[in-house]
Amino acid sequence: MKDLISIIDVKKHVGETVKIGAWLADKSGKGKLQFLQLRDGTAFFQAVVFKPNMIEKFGEEAGTAKFDEIKHLSQETSVYVTGVVKEDARSKFGYELDVTDLEVIGHSHDYPITPKEHGVEFLLDNRHLWLRSKRQMAIMQIRNAIIYASYDFFDKNGFIKFDSPILSGNAAENTTELFETDYFGNPAFLSQSGQLYLEAGAMALGRVFDFGPVFRAEKSKTRRHLTEFWMMDAEYPFVTHDESLDIQEAYVKHMIQGVLDNAAYALETLERDISKLQKYVDTPFMRVSYDDAIDLLQAHENDEDTDYEHVEHGDDFGSPHETWLSNFYGVPTFVVNYPASFKAFYMRPVPGNPERVLCADLLAPEGYGEIIGGSERETDYEVLLQKIVDFGLDPKDYEWYLELRKFGSVPHAGFGLGLERMVTFVAGTEHIREAIPFPRMINRIHP
Ligand code: 4AD
Ligand code: MG
Repeated sequence: MKDLISIIDVKKHVGETVKIGAWLADKSGKGKLQFLQLRDGTAFFQAVVFKPNMIEKFGEEAGTAKFDEIKHLSQETSVYVTGVVKEDARSKFGYELDVTDLEVIGHSHDYPITPKEHGVEFLLDNRHLWLRSKRQMAIMQIRNAIIYASYDFFDKNGFIKFDSPILSGNAAENTTELFETDYFGNPAFLSQSGQLYLEAGAMALGRVFDFGPVFRAEKSKTRRHLTEFWMMDAEYPFVTHDESLDIQEAYVKHMIQGVLDNAAYALETLERDISKLQKYVDTPFMRVSYDDAIDLLQAHENDEDTDYEHVEHGDDFGSPHETWLSNFYGVPTFVVNYPASFKAFYMRPVPGNPERVLCADLLAPEGYGEIIGGSERETDYEVLLQKIVDFGLDPKDYEWYLELRKFGSVPHAGFGLGLERMVTFVAGTEHIREAIPFPRMINRIHP
């Protein structure tokens, strides 16, 4: 309704009478006072109902009845509330509403999520309602600010949005993580990443990006894994690996700054340390080679406060190694040039060192793990064909992809950012399941 204002905007209406459409998140009261905690998706704030005010406005009988009705409102009742906005230095939000009228829209009975503590499985079973809580609202607002900043960055930097398909006839990454489905009698796969299609886009349009849901069937139960998540892939021709890292760094900084600028209320709600986020924007990211990182890990493996396992050159990192490395540097850190043996088939080898590939994982600090995977791509038809065979893939499925190397092949690179990993990191939350409206995990597909 056009005469309604949002809670987040009440600061622009101090001293005015406003009307708000909201839900009752919580309520308390004593004597002639009722304190209503209202929420409308933009913020939470308190509305105060004073019985004598109701009587003054509606008369003794009607005013008393109105006050009694308010006193008995239950959690999640939807209401139109009218009142005068007041500054309130005692509340964290800074404003409250002095109620002059209240109208019930929809009743609510036995709302299952009460202000007391609940177990996480219960909350996930009630995800359709859990999203209404303050913390979940804040995380979704941060997710939105990241998406917005992401589009803004690509638009400002000359990228074109190029949508990759979700149903595909070939794997983009590791074939052990594929969701297979029946496509009119033939196998098809749910996309793991739009990258391969984006490479075709880059040869047609220059700088391109996509943003969409991707799927990984890996049977992992860690706090960083979803089976369905949103990935932003970007791809660009005539760009080498080092230049690609510059683009990624600018992109991640732009998203963090976007959240600082546009989701301050959400960050405050989550009690996220803003000074850390500002530091990540203001400080250059670290770049370390995989082999130097292994040396460093080996040199520190007996330190008192380390708890990671010994790693050799050629081993993959586990999350304790990633956590230690990013904490060591204290800023987002690119680990570059991993062994070819555990990276994807399309990555270009380091010149003069075929055991290593021109790639990077960006590790977020504070233990949030890998948020970006990127690389320079193999450009030579024969080399790529051999790689496809060596990886046990069927070259027939990749004919179209190989053809990109036949007609004016150019150096090109790109990366993919996992949106929910980014949200988890910026919001400072413990588990990735809270970073997406309806998380999909091995044992969860409802609601
Ligand atoms: O490192 P990944 O597998 O890279 C690719 O898919 C490349 N094709 C991207 C490219 O070069 N265009 O995945 C990219 C990012 C990871 O860094 C991580 O942030 C996220 O996707 N990710 C996941 N997020 C949630 N749950 C999972 N199971 C994830 N797997 C990867
Ligand atoms: Mg990766």
